[in-house]
Amino acid sequence: MQKEEMEKSVKILAIESSCDETAAAVVENGRRVLSNIIYSQIDLHTLYGGVVPEIASRKHIEKVIPVVDKALKEASLTFSDIDAIAVTYGPGLVGPLLVGVSAAKAISLATGIPLVGVHHIEGHISANYIENPELEPPFACLVVSGGHSHLVVVKDYGEYEVIGKTRDDAAGEAFDKVARAIGLGYPGGPKIDKVSKEGDPNAVTFPRAKVGGSVYDFSFSGLKSAVLNYLNICEMKGEKWVQADIAASFQKAVVDVLVEHSMNAIDEYGFTKFAIAGGVASNSALRSAMEEACAKKHIAFYHPSPILCTDNAAMIGAAGYFEYRKGVRSSMDLNAIPNLKLGER
Ligand code: KG4
Ligand code: ZN
Repeated sequence: MQKEEMEKSVKILAIESSCDETAAAVVENGRRVLSNIIYSQIDLHTLYGGVVPEIASRKHIEKVIPVVDKALKEASLTFSDIDAIAVTYGPGLVGPLLVGVSAAKAISLATGIPLVGVHHIEGHISANYIENPELEPPFACLVVSGGHSHLVVVKDYGEYEVIGKTRDDAAGEAFDKVARAIGLGYPGGPKIDKVSKEGDPNAVTFPRAKVGGSVYDFSFSGLKSAVLNYLNICEMKGEKWVQADIAASFQKAVVDVLVEHSMNAIDEYGFTKFAIAGGVASNSALRSAMEEACAKKHIAFYHPSPILCTDNAAMIGAAGYFEYRKGVRSSMDLNAIPNLKLGER
């Protein structure tokens, strides 16, 4: 990269609305967050035990322009300072995605600012660039969220190879379902994380699923069923189970598998840098287990702050910057793609 190009300030206004967070942010040069506004709809959906897509879409419509305004205001900028608008266009819930995409297209059309469509998982991975200015590809990244569990080789900015993924439930989905079964409610991940601190992770040995095919693939639905079976058997026998022990034992089973597969990939591919991303990456047990495993191998370990792990627009601004720099521009026919694959456009 040319020196003057490096010194030029590129400011990206980013919009994220793929699930239940309406978010907007302004990010400079992919790594400096000038504002990061998140309107979380969690309270609205808690009543139903999970995200209701129609309710989410309606709330996004109400909130998308206010969060954009706030993001510009907090960064003390106006549209005339913005070089590009980055927006998540998949994967995610189609209605919620459409709201963000439509808002971004409308702003782009009205102002003439170029538009850059961003893959949601690319956003999660790019959250690592924000607080780690020294982090550059190549590296491996484990993306674990409510919708995805991917082991990804980040070959270069915007260049990915998925080497492992879940065959059924995502890691976060398993956290949410088990939390509901043991009476913790939604969203399950943070609640299991908290209550597990009081529990014994070795109280119950839940299965660590192995799946055929890629050695790096995951499966979490068997683990979820094992927890449900355990609860049923206890109830049938009239035995009491301890919420914190079940939570801690389940969490350990998930963490063990995530660490084992990641470390196998590190050995096989010879990575010297490893990152985690996505909502589940804010799990305290996962972070400390990964930290320890990476330290043993003398490889660098990266993770975003919890606020940048769960859905936010700063990560979309980071990813959008590197796509923009490569010359990626989206046209007015950019559409929401609910099942968009990583690396596809
Ligand atoms: O990345 P994210 O905000 O949304 C998706 O793209 O899916 O991830 C949300 C998921 C939820 O399943 C939530 O329960 C989980 O991340 N999560 C956690 C923690 N915080 C959020 N899981 C485990 N431990 C946590 N501390
Ligand atoms: Zn996400």
